[in-house]
Amino acid sequence: VFKVQANQIKAEIQPTMWGIFFEDINMGADGGIYAELVKNRSFEFYTPLMGWTVSGKSVKEGDVLVLNRKEINTANPRYIQVNVNNADKGSISLTNEGFRGMGIKKGLRYDFSVMYRQKTAHLKLHLELVNPKGEIIGTGLLIPTETGSDWHKQAVSFNATATEQKAKLNIWFEGNGMIDLDMISLFPEDTWKRRPGGMRADMIQLLADMKPGFIRFPGGCIVEGRDLANRYQWKKTIGPIEQRQLIMNRWNTEFANKQTPDYFQTFGLGFFEYFQLAEDIGAEPLPILNAGMACQFNSAEVVALDELDPYVQDALDLIEFANGGVNTRWGKVRADMGHPKPFNLKMMGVGNENWGPQYLERLRIFTKAIKAKYPNIKLVNSSGTDPNGDRFDYLNTALRKMNADLIDEHYYRRPEWFLENANRYDNYPRNGSKIFAGEYAAQSDKTVSVNNKNNWKTAMSEAAFMTGLERNADVVSMASYAPLFAHVDGWQWTPDLIWVDNLRSYGTTDYQVQKLFSTNKGTQEVPILLDNKAVEGKDGFYACAALDKATNEIILKVVNTSAKAQNADFVIDGAKLKAKANITVLTNENLEQVNSFDNPSAVSPKIQEVDLRNQKLQFELKPYSLNVIRIKKA
Ligand code: AHR
Repeated sequence: VFKVQANQIKAEIQPTMWGIFFEDINMGADGGIYAELVKNRSFEFYTPLMGWTVSGKSVKEGDVLVLNRKEINTANPRYIQVNVNNADKGSISLTNEGFRGMGIKKGLRYDFSVMYRQKTAHLKLHLELVNPKGEIIGTGLLIPTETGSDWHKQAVSFNATATEQKAKLNIWFEGNGMIDLDMISLFPEDTWKRRPGGMRADMIQLLADMKPGFIRFPGGCIVEGRDLANRYQWKKTIGPIEQRQLIMNRWNTEFANKQTPDYFQTFGLGFFEYFQLAEDIGAEPLPILNAGMACQFNSAEVVALDELDPYVQDALDLIEFANGGVNTRWGKVRADMGHPKPFNLKMMGVGNENWGPQYLERLRIFTKAIKAKYPNIKLVNSSGTDPNGDRFDYLNTALRKMNADLIDEHYYRRPEWFLENANRYDNYPRNGSKIFAGEYAAQSDKTVSVNNKNNWKTAMSEAAFMTGLERNADVVSMASYAPLFAHVDGWQWTPDLIWVDNLRSYGTTDYQVQKLFSTNKGTQEVPILLDNKAVEGKDGFYACAALDKATNEIILKVVNTSAKAQNADFVIDGAKLKAKANITVLTNENLEQVNSFDNPSAVSPKIQEVDLRNQKLQFELKPYSLNVIRIKKA
């Protein structure tokens, strides 16, 4: 018998309890949610023509040169110059391969744009989308006007005639003359909220459906960078896109398995867009900033303490960018980008997986400066968990002594660890610093193994663990699975919450668990016992119970990790109940079961209604199941 004590409030559940962690890993941003289809649009990748091929180039037909103007334009130094010698359409062209091809949809409008300059106007640009067989599936024509020595932007739109996962874009030059080109771009019209130059709507919809309490961005290791020169600097990610200075992505694996040597951060998706996304999906923004330390897995580079000021200033300026009035320097930048209203930033992270004493030294300086100017901004401090010992005890003790607002712990472990640690916070100090379970995912094989799968076993073990997080809502304020997205043709890390190809996306088993917790959060935690004892692990059960003030319901989450169906009685003390319960069940008898593009709903929730008898609910919990029970109070 499960007994819920509905009149004994244990803790307030923070609105931020379940959120999402976004990082540009696995082609999450470029080639992922950022809907740009042209790879290396500004010729700034490692080699300038990466992603491009030039055909028909000869002295006779014409010539393509890469020019560098870095003395006058440090953010976007390179552009190309095309010389065309009396060419017919079909003799000289540039082809862009897209990010593992371009996903094109039949009937949809595509918006092509380019920045250019030319002294005389004698050229035509014929645009063609082609499938891998070379068949044309969309055409457009752009006739550039004369510009003198100034750069102009011109756009043309056209519709696709077929659907294709792996299309390419050809630009054929016709005429006689010379033209400079930069920022060659192609976007679909069906972006999220139909914003020009926006995000891929199907991927964002999956996030919106989770109703996340917060969104953490931009990572992860990319906050740190392989070295400090390649760290994430938010100021370089805002303003006109042609002025955003790209860098090599920390997850560019030229030096590892060579899968993604073309992985760069173009920052078409930058901090303004992240804040806007948070607002769109009703999530609190949680930016994480570099603490003056590069990625601990790549280098031991840290900035000298007497050179930390610009890093701290970036943090202070970010708060002004997000919250400042339009008359402030950075508030005005936000307003000029189209958002005069503040974004209402309430929290910020300093450092990601920075652990050593050098972190504490730097963190103290950040904290002092930020709290002095913005005492209400909550700060997330980075910590860790050690599977084999207490490597992080000293750090957690130090952070707690510093009165850290939130301590960010990460767990990438085997499913068994998640089950064994469902009681991790039961005996945690109740006062002082709160916990942000900032990155976690059960590993079906081992951490960062390419064999990791998002199967029902991993998801179910996370569900059991998450009941432990929610039961301790007075200590745990926030939690997020990581990483969030992965592209099937360009990933570096498994498992991941959502998988995509160029046209499709699906939520994994783990996604279904996250979504169920997040959309059934409740507002106050109350005790739940099994046969008058703590539930954790007893007969394979894990459970938590909450009240929802908004809907006047009791919400139970019960995980049956055993291989057998189990009958259970639920008695709710201290509340009068309506006669029906609504039960959502996520289950599969096969722990290896995964969702996939072909079968995205293999593990997906089923809803049923069950009658209560004499205020008591009785029902059979399926083997290997997560059950979310909602009962209205009378
Ligand atoms: O989520 C993948 C990586 O795991 C993150 O970038 C990093 O914070 C952690 O090591």
